Amino acid sequence: MTQDIAQRIAALSAKLEEHLYRYHVLAAPTISDQEFDRLLAELQALEEAHPALKRPDSPTQRVGGAPTSDFPTVRHARPMLSLDNSYSRQDVEDFDRRVRQSLSGEAVEYVFELKIDGVALSLLYQDSLLVRAVTRGDGVQGDEITANARTIPTIPLRLRQPGINCEIRGEVYMESNDFARLNAQRAANSEPLFANPRNSAAGSLKLQNPHLVAKRNLRFFAYWIRAEGGGPTRHSECLETLRDWGFIVPEHQGCAALADVFALYDHYAAIRTTLPYEIDGAVIKVDSLSQQERLGYTAKSPRSALAYKFPAYQARTRVLNIHLQVGRTGAVTPVAALEPVPLAGSTIARASLHNEDEIRRKDIRIGDTVLIEKGGDVIPKVVRVDRSTRPDDSVEYSFPNQCPSCQGPLSRAAEEAVTRCDNPTCPAQLRRRLEHFAARNAMDIEGLGPAVVEQLVEQELVKDLSDLYELDVESLGALERMGEKSAQNLLDGLDRSKEQPFDRVLFALGIRHVGATVARTLARTFGSLDALCRASVDKLEATHEIGPIIARSLYASLPDLPALDRVLYKLKKARLQFAIQEEAAAPSSHFSGKTVVITGTLSGYSRDEAAALIERLGGKATSSVSSKTDLLVAGEKAGSKLARAQALGVAVLDEAAFTAQLKEAGVA
Ligand code: IVH
Repeated sequence: MTQDIAQRIAALSAKLEEHLYRYHVLAAPTISDQEFDRLLAELQALEEAHPALKRPDSPTQRVGGAPTSDFPTVRHARPMLSLDNSYSRQDVEDFDRRVRQSLSGEAVEYVFELKIDGVALSLLYQDSLLVRAVTRGDGVQGDEITANARTIPTIPLRLRQPGINCEIRGEVYMESNDFARLNAQRAANSEPLFANPRNSAAGSLKLQNPHLVAKRNLRFFAYWIRAEGGGPTRHSECLETLRDWGFIVPEHQGCAALADVFALYDHYAAIRTTLPYEIDGAVIKVDSLSQQERLGYTAKSPRSALAYKFPAYQARTRVLNIHLQVGRTGAVTPVAALEPVPLAGSTIARASLHNEDEIRRKDIRIGDTVLIEKGGDVIPKVVRVDRSTRPDDSVEYSFPNQCPSCQGPLSRAAEEAVTRCDNPTCPAQLRRRLEHFAARNAMDIEGLGPAVVEQLVEQELVKDLSDLYELDVESLGALERMGEKSAQNLLDGLDRSKEQPFDRVLFALGIRHVGATVARTLARTFGSLDALCRASVDKLEATHEIGPIIARSLYASLPDLPALDRVLYKLKKARLQFAIQEEAAAPSSHFSGKTVVITGTLSGYSRDEAAALIERLGGKATSSVSSKTDLLVAGEKAGSKLARAQALGVAVLDEAAFTAQLKEAGVA
């Protein structure tokens, strides 16, 4: 009986995946939507009745698994680099010359491939099964978002070729129509809009509820593979292989000469608006993988590939007014209010004017007609003024000397371009500081959005960050549209934020130059705020990833932190984390600094869980056994990897020994 059901489940899974493939990848469905839904419902019912028989590649996962509260951070097996950008034929010719010179005049062929404007994702397949999906993150480590990736129909849960261990990289993107539909929906619900399809793809991938991700119509283009045991020798073959395995690949073409590259570039530049998705240029890649290897990498990008970007979209419109915006550090940014104009799929009504000098240099005046452009940034910029249409009576813009929020004086240091409001109690700054403090990547305080922040500041319930932790149900009752339930939610959110680790607190404080990444580095290096404030400029400068400029600026501003003294004192009293928690730092363990491979079936952990534990304990979990492997964790039915490890003399732990080590490290 169970046997029959298992067989039926397997057959249904295979059939549904095949239909998904035909529909989404081949765009050639062979059954109706109703028929598909009927099969899916049958599978869902069987799985519900027999949860033990649910398969890891079940298409039912595509409608979304259980929500997660946080995404584990995972290190990439090899860094996810970026590409050198170029904008002109000259740049491309220079690139070609460098390539040929480095290869001592060998014949070189290129692949011209569309550059999709989405977000990079790394997929790990073991025995052809999707086991892990990780975002690019900072290139070294990213967020594990496997459950979300499983909802993307163009990501195969199982490769169409059996027995493959590989990593695949590509771009998650949203088609322009789906983007427009999503934003229309969000507008109807008074939710904030996404600036472009790329941001909405990025935002969707990070949703904590996979059911919602499934509704976002994300798609995936694959463009990179590294498989165990060799494989293709050319990039063009990689793309063919990816297709065979069930992926969609970006449009591409081989080019023997640069003339072909330029012709293709011109063609796509002309038709780009007719494509269903956004491209921001092309990638030119050396076809031979052996040549790619020999060309190697700079710190940031491969020398064998170049992004050849399209010029930014431009439009003309009028400057209706110029406002000042006060940031959380007091920096005042002038912003142009524009006559709304459509540009690259969205309507533009504002543009940043950066600073006073920029306004003067471009001589931008209220009433001017300007050329604006949207580059890689979300906020468009003013390229230049059309002088020919300037009204005769227009007057030069004079930069105000009073803060629009607190009416305090604005100042500008001699060597700086930025104008500042120096009043630390300026309500606009406080609002921005509170918004930053509460943000998802900072203290992640639920219920503390901009509208609540504005009221808290206006009613003077909160005069600095630490006042947040003294709020109670009564005081919150004074706010508009804040019932007892939402007040309690906010208080709970504040309470939970006390658990946020030190690096988040450090970032949330909003110290200049301390972004999320720098905060993580500083937290790891110095361990506590006290130690950080005592650090010498040399020690700061010697810190990995912190350049001399940031180090010096930090050194100058850290002693100012005591100016925040009262606030810090109260935040400490509220029990926020001002030092690394012992268990948050990777404890020294059997796995510290070791490269570990997991194989076979473990009864107590999924492979993902085991890998996450190893990473938490300072080890690196990889998928293939090589001379670099220090340790093999072998579960039941360990096969060729065990044999290989034994042949290489790699230490092997069985599940009992593995669990014992985890216990010793205090994580099991
Ligand atoms: S190859 C070393 N191919 O562009 C990076 N990237 O600006 C190798 N991208 O991070 C990337 N389409 O997210 C490659 N056809 C394509 C691409 C592509 C979009 C993205 C990718 C990368 C970024 C670099």
